[in-house]
Amino acid sequence: MQSWTPCKNADALDFFRPEFVEHIRAVKEEPRMHCKQWEYAQLLEVRRQLAPEAKRLVGLGCGCEPTIPLVGAGAERVTVTDLYNRDDAWDVARRDPRAAFPEMDNLEVHTMDMTRVDLPKKSADFVWSLCAVEHVGELPDIIDAVRQAGELLDDDGVMFISTELNLSGGRYRTKGTLFLSPAMIEELVRSSGLHLVAPIELKISDHPMNTPVWSGLSFTHDALPHVIYRVQRRPFDGIYGTVVSFVLGRRDRGVREIWDVDPDHASILRKLGDKGRKINRRMSPIKRWW
Ligand SMILES: C[S@@+](CC[C@H](N)C(=O)[O-])C[C@H]1O[C@@H](n2cnc3c(N)ncnc32)[C@H](O)[C@@H]1O
Repeated sequence: MQSWTPCKNADALDFFRPEFVEHIRAVKEEPRMHCKQWEYAQLLEVRRQLAPEAKRLVGLGCGCEPTIPLVGAGAERVTVTDLYNRDDAWDVARRDPRAAFPEMDNLEVHTMDMTRVDLPKKSADFVWSLCAVEHVGELPDIIDAVRQAGELLDDDGVMFISTELNLSGGRYRTKGTLFLSPAMIEELVRSSGLHLVAPIELKISDHPMNTPVWSGLSFTHDALPHVIYRVQRRPFDGIYGTVVSFVLGRRDRGVREIWDVDPDHASILRKLGDKGRKINRRMSPIKRWW
C-alpha cells in the first residue's frame, strides 16, 4: 500500500485504509467502493492532517454533504455555500443544511454562485469543494472560480478540491459536467495563484474493484464498484473517468511538478477496461457499450 497523500486519484485500494473505513462509517455508511465515499474520506483526512487547527471554514457547492458536521467540528465558523433556494439549484442544494444539522451552532448557510464569490478575501483558513467546480462551465470559468476561492484563504490556509478526472485524454463533457484531463488540471493549478502541497499522484492499481463499467450502473446496483468508471452518452463515444483530489495553499512548499505519474497506469487501465467491457455488455444498454 502506498502512503497516503492528499493529492491523488481515487483507487479501490484506498478503501482498505483504516482511516478511510473510519471516515466512511462516521457518515453512517459502510465502505462500498464508491467515489463519493472516497471524496468524503479524503476530505476528512485532509482536515485532520493538514488543517486540524482551522477555525474559519468555507465550502463551495456543498449541497447537503453529510460530512459538514465532521469537517466543521472544532471550528468557530463553517460557511457552506451553494445555489441554495434558487430555481437553478441541484436537488442536493434544495435541502437546507441548517435543517439537516440543527446541532451545529457554528454553521452559516450562504447562497452563492461560486463563479461570483462574494465573501471577504482572506477570511478563511480552510476552503473545500467536493465535485462541484466541474459544473460551473468551461475550463476558463472553472479556473476563475478556483482563483476566486483561493482569494478566500489567509496566508497559511489550504483549499481541498475534488473533481472528475478524464483518464482517456482529449476533451469530454456532458451538458452539466466537464471531465478535467490532467492537462486541464495542470492549467488550473498553475493559474490558481496558489501552490500544491504535494504533486498529484496518478496511479491505478490492478485491483479488480477498479474495473470500469458504465457509471449509471452504480445507481441501481450498489454491489458494483464506482471507483474507475465509464462515462458515455453514445455507443463507443465515451471516456474512463474517476475522481481526483488536490490541496492548494498560499504558502509555497517547493512543489514544482504538478503530476507524479506511474508509468504503468495506462497499461493497467487498458487491461481493466478490457475486463470491464465484457461485464458491461451483459449489464448495460447498447448505448453504453464500448
Ligand atoms: C455533484 S453536486 C455535489 C454536491 C456536494 N458537494 C456533494 O459532494 O454532495 C454539485 C454541486 O455543485 C453545485 N453547483 C453547481 N454549479 C454551481 C455554481 N455555479 N455555484 C455554486 N454551486 C454550484 C450544485 O448545486 C451541487 O450542489
